[in-house]
Amino acid sequence: MTGNESLLAPRPSSELSSIRNAEEEDALLTGERTTRRNEPRRGLGFWGQVGTFAWAAIATILVIVLAVVYQHEAAKNRRAPSHEVWGPGGKPTGKRNLIFMVSDGMGPTSLSMTRSFRQLTESLPIDDILVLDKHYIGQSRTRSSNSLVTDSAAGATAFTCANKSYNGAISVLPDHSPCGTVLEAAKLAGYHTGLVVTTRITDATPACFASHANLRQYEDSIAEQEAGEHPLGRVVDLILGGGRCHFLPNSTEGSCRADDRDIVELASQNGFHYLQDRTAFDALNGGAKAKLPLMGLFAEKDIPFEIDRRSQNDVYPSLEEMARTALTTLSEATRDSEQGFFLMIEGSRIDHAGHGNDPAAQVHEVIAFDKAFAAVLEFLEKDDTPGVLVSTSDHETGGLAAARQLHTSYPEYLWLPRILANAEHSSEYVAAKLSNHLLEAGKHDDDSKKKAYIRKTLLEKDLGISDATDEEVNALLHPEEGVSRQYLFADMISRRAQIGWSTHGHSAADVNIYASSSKDAWPLVGNNENTDVGAFLANYLDLDVDAVTKRLKSAAYWTASGEESTTQEKYNWMGDPVGSTVRTEGLDTYHGDFKKRSLDDCGCGAVH
Ligand SMILES: *[C@@H]1O[C@H](CO)[C@@H](O)[C@H](O)[C@H]1NC(C)=O
Ligand SMILES: *[C@@H]1O[C@H](CO)[C@@H](O)[C@H](O)[C@H]1NC(C)=O
Ligand SMILES: [Zn+2]
Ligand SMILES: [Zn+2]
Repeated sequence: MTGNESLLAPRPSSELSSIRNAEEEDALLTGERTTRRNEPRRGLGFWGQVGTFAWAAIATILVIVLAVVYQHEAAKNRRAPSHEVWGPGGKPTGKRNLIFMVSDGMGPTSLSMTRSFRQLTESLPIDDILVLDKHYIGQSRTRSSNSLVTDSAAGATAFTCANKSYNGAISVLPDHSPCGTVLEAAKLAGYHTGLVVTTRITDATPACFASHANLRQYEDSIAEQEAGEHPLGRVVDLILGGGRCHFLPNSTEGSCRADDRDIVELASQNGFHYLQDRTAFDALNGGAKAKLPLMGLFAEKDIPFEIDRRSQNDVYPSLEEMARTALTTLSEATRDSEQGFFLMIEGSRIDHAGHGNDPAAQVHEVIAFDKAFAAVLEFLEKDDTPGVLVSTSDHETGGLAAARQLHTSYPEYLWLPRILANAEHSSEYVAAKLSNHLLEAGKHDDDSKKKAYIRKTLLEKDLGISDATDEEVNALLHPEEGVSRQYLFADMISRRAQIGWSTHGHSAADVNIYASSSKDAWPLVGNNENTDVGAFLANYLDLDVDAVTKRLKSAAYWTASGEESTTQEKYNWMGDPVGSTVRTEGLDTYHGDFKKRSLDDCGCGAVH
């Protein structure tokens, strides 16, 4: 509290204060006074004795009241969700760790679908549930500042800055000013920080923690900021995931940068130990041999879907392995420090399976996420430092339905997990395999040979579909203009399993929140706004995110080449703003979009 505020300032509204404290305070302020007023009158000798006792009692009460009021004042100065209640468990006062997990694009139906899939494939009883299910504490509402349906950028900005922003925003507000993130504030407060993902580390979710950009597409700039070319200096200590293509100069094979900057070199100059393959990952010995700062980028773009990665385990580490390695590394690094660590772990590609409407790929992604969640729980149970794990999704993807009407006749009540179990690979993998085949081995084959390859190798062997019609096979070989083969393969699985999808994009469904215990994440019990999740993260670590926002707003302006410049327009370092034609706040209205669009509008190039 500031010096000129009175200790006996009016009590803050009970909305902002702890319920427990308010109850205690009421008892102290009202209870004592009434009993004393009701005491019968006595003689002076008696009052002599009572005087001493009463004075002692009043002094004690005064000290308690002051302490309670002081606590309220201190709490008032921290950023807190409006309904903040540090319930049964309170929050730790000393050293602590915070692990935040994001199941990108996982809605409640993904859980139901995955549970049933696992019960079938592992012969488990009907009450067998995921580890996540046992840690359910509430839900999150997900809309962004400019749409009822958020994208991952606005979704993650709600988590990092505790503010709503527009779809595409990477930790910037609707007015295109940067907002400080929980990870940046943690770093400045002396915590160690980490990001673990299965997609590109420059993709929207991880980007929002450690960079600022007016549009999520500015991934080259996001890579630079993550590598330490950031107004606050290097803010991430540990990076594990994919997306090295944005770190390689455009002259290098496997680069997806527009320029010839070498961001791996930049990262090295900023102290990062860089690794890019499984051998180097294994040499970390589960984190025991890791040195910070650490940057491990194991794929040019995304790490393959778990359903495909299982057979390439010698090339790519799993989400669980990366999570365990990150926990050990950060825990070792903070062993002797006053502050613990903040780690974000994302099951990034649950979302991609949703975009692809591929239920077989999705159940494996959810199981992989569940295993990583269990690994974090195990860490927290064994670790001496208090900590909490909170896990949620940024939004639902695909409008997934665990039932589908296939014909005009009234549907049966069922869906068939066996169909998902029959698939050995994702539709993404199989579609890429078909493209390669048509370009190479099978390029001189006639149509009947190509169709035999599709039927036998791709459908029967890889996807477990043995009843494909001639029409389906023909559509795969000669897809209609603008139709993706990947979507065709996925639809063949979904229809057979009677799994429904309403979109290849996101939906506005509320998503679940999970925690290591409801006791330790008490403010998030029940139905929350996604910004409440962000406020919880900052609050749990007692971070001053607003102070970081102020520093970012006064940061030197940078040119594209990373040189400081004072002539540039303010915030130019975050890339061009979206432009005045794009609404960053308020909702869109009806434009008659029910009408069929032309064939060339394929929805290609959409962002997740
Ligand atoms: C950001 O969130 C905080 C806390 O909810 C709020 O007070 C503030 O007005 C928000 N800022 C903007 C620019 O929306
Ligand atoms: C590579 O980057 C340089 C500038 O950094 C640019 O001049 C050149 O055109 C780029 N090359 C390609 C193939 O994009
Ligand atoms: Zn997302
Ligand atoms: Zn998405």
